[in-house]
Amino acid sequence: MIQLATEAALEAGRFLKMSVGKIKHIERKQGQELNLVTEIDKKSEEMIIRKIKQRYPHHDFLAEESGSHEKQSDYKWVIDPLDGTTNFTHGFPIFCVSIALEVKGEVVLGVVYDPNADELYSAEKGKGATLNGKPIRVSTVSKLIESILVTGFPYTIKDNPDEIMRHFKNFLVEAQAIRRLGSAALDLCYVAAGRLDGFWEASLHPWDMAAGVLIVEEAGGKFTDFRGFPSSIYKKQLLATNGLIHEHMIGVLGKSK
Ligand code: IPD
Ligand code: CA
Ligand code: CA
Repeated sequence: MIQLATEAALEAGRFLKMSVGKIKHIERKQGQELNLVTEIDKKSEEMIIRKIKQRYPHHDFLAEESGSHEKQSDYKWVIDPLDGTTNFTHGFPIFCVSIALEVKGEVVLGVVYDPNADELYSAEKGKGATLNGKPIRVSTVSKLIESILVTGFPYTIKDNPDEIMRHFKNFLVEAQAIRRLGSAALDLCYVAAGRLDGFWEASLHPWDMAAGVLIVEEAGGKFTDFRGFPSSIYKKQLLATNGLIHEHMIGVLGKSK
């Protein structure tokens, strides 16, 4: 199954890279003027689902563009066919494909492919995480002031920017640096690879996080909600770190000013 997920991610990722600058239709998702979708997101998703269905016609799917295809199987593929659509529409080369498999509600494998860097991140439950076949580990940075963090902003930010800006401002003065890359799946993989030390985001979807969270955990990192409670890909809040700065980040996220 990991091989199938890998092949599907590589194929879709190469298609995305080839399609930069060739987008014909950009739509805004209903009620969200910042949330874009292109025909390339949809085509990538069709390619991935078709490939997996050929082998596993009775599995369930939860995919960003076509929603949930439920057959009451124990197996559910959770797919983001293009994570980083805003970057993609501008030709900004940070985007990827994310594919995960849940078995009876537990994510057991995840692959994320970045076609621009030709980097394939992958993990299987209990077997560690790899980047292009080589094992990866989270960083060993233990002080927030020496940490490089990443975050993302929801498409609905205009409805309630204050809380998001409060977190952002508080981390700005407590961390070494903050980045905003525009692809939650890659943010997670960068934490797993030790390139970034922590990632927080307030409003994600299962397809943004399913593969990346497993990759972080299998690389030795930690994933909870903002208060430090065990989380799930179906809850929106995500705090993922190298484990060492986790408590400190929870403290910052808990500040009321
Ligand atoms: C988005 C990206 C972005 C994050 C948003 C996501 P999309 O996914 O991961 O980094 O901040 O919350 O929705 O729409 O490009 O697949
Ligand atoms: Ca996404
Ligand atoms: Ca997407």
